[in-house]
Amino acid sequence: MRSAVIAFAPGRINLVGEHTDYNDGLALAFAIAQGVTVRAAALPGGRIEAAARDFGEEDRFPVAEPSPARGWRAFVRGAVAELRRAAVDVPGASLEISATLPRGAGLSSSAALEVALTLALSALAGQPAADRIELAQLCSRIENEWVGAQSGLLDQLASLCGRPDHALRIDFRSLAVTPVALDLGAYKLVILDSGERRANASSGYNRRRDECREACALLGIPSLRAATLEMARRLPDPLGRRVRHVVSENGRVEDAVKALRRRDHPALAAVIDASHASLRDDYEVSTPAVEDAVRRLKGAGALGARVIGGGFGGSVLGLLSPDARVPAGAVEVRSGPGARVSAS
Ligand code: GLA
Repeated sequence: MRSAVIAFAPGRINLVGEHTDYNDGLALAFAIAQGVTVRAAALPGGRIEAAARDFGEEDRFPVAEPSPARGWRAFVRGAVAELRRAAVDVPGASLEISATLPRGAGLSSSAALEVALTLALSALAGQPAADRIELAQLCSRIENEWVGAQSGLLDQLASLCGRPDHALRIDFRSLAVTPVALDLGAYKLVILDSGERRANASSGYNRRRDECREACALLGIPSLRAATLEMARRLPDPLGRRVRHVVSENGRVEDAVKALRRRDHPALAAVIDASHASLRDDYEVSTPAVEDAVRRLKGAGALGARVIGGGFGGSVLGLLSPDARVPAGAVEVRSGPGARVSAS
């Protein structure tokens, strides 16, 4: 057991491959510099005393009996409960949580929080997670069972497996994570917040997942990874369009990987634009505020721009051409290392 540790988990940007993770599909994501830090120190007495610095709020509960709660407390209680279920002997601890990542902006503040909490608590227990894929799955159970969002594995894997100057091609059927060099030359990736907060649990996200399940049942296939455009044409609306998005989005991930390998940035921008059109028209997760942010980025010289994350608000990603300046309100993003723990 360690007496004190600091864990940091980054947020993520998804270059392309949206709403594919829970369909056994493909994505191309990277970890960013902004994220969530958890400072943990062992406490006697078998209790957790957590403080969320950014909200000035606290939570206390016995390690042996974390009961359900709402908001950020659900993450802390879920982290303790799921680690214990995975045979981690979680000690009593004080936890101080702080973030450099905006919440609800589509940059995976939820996953960063789960990952930082579980890394800190398992390191404090002296049982650091050996397998990052398994830890991503554990974090996703916190989100599914304690927070009430049926999100997939994209955010957790990107936060845990990030690599500087690389994007990660993630295959959610095999869970293979393959780094792909992210050499943008003089191009820049920026994000612009649409200003509309999103909440996975209350948005249409869970409804989209239900629609995908319904489409699989009608098609008699185990997941939409097995679907084709021809199958999509046989389905009633809107299920056919949902499937068309997932099938075409998987193809766009492969196109983006090829574009990055060739350092063909205009081709990457075209993929980003095509992904946005599909998310807007077929998957229907855009909003007027998001469309406005896309227009603002395009007006500022973005070659490609699209909504990222679950949609229904949040941030827009833009690929700026070399001569364009980062527009007001937008932030440049670069790929950074994955989550890490250090002694405090
Ligand atoms: C959210 C979820 C992810 C993923 C994306 C959409 O970020 O947390 O699991 O489904 O939406 O690609």
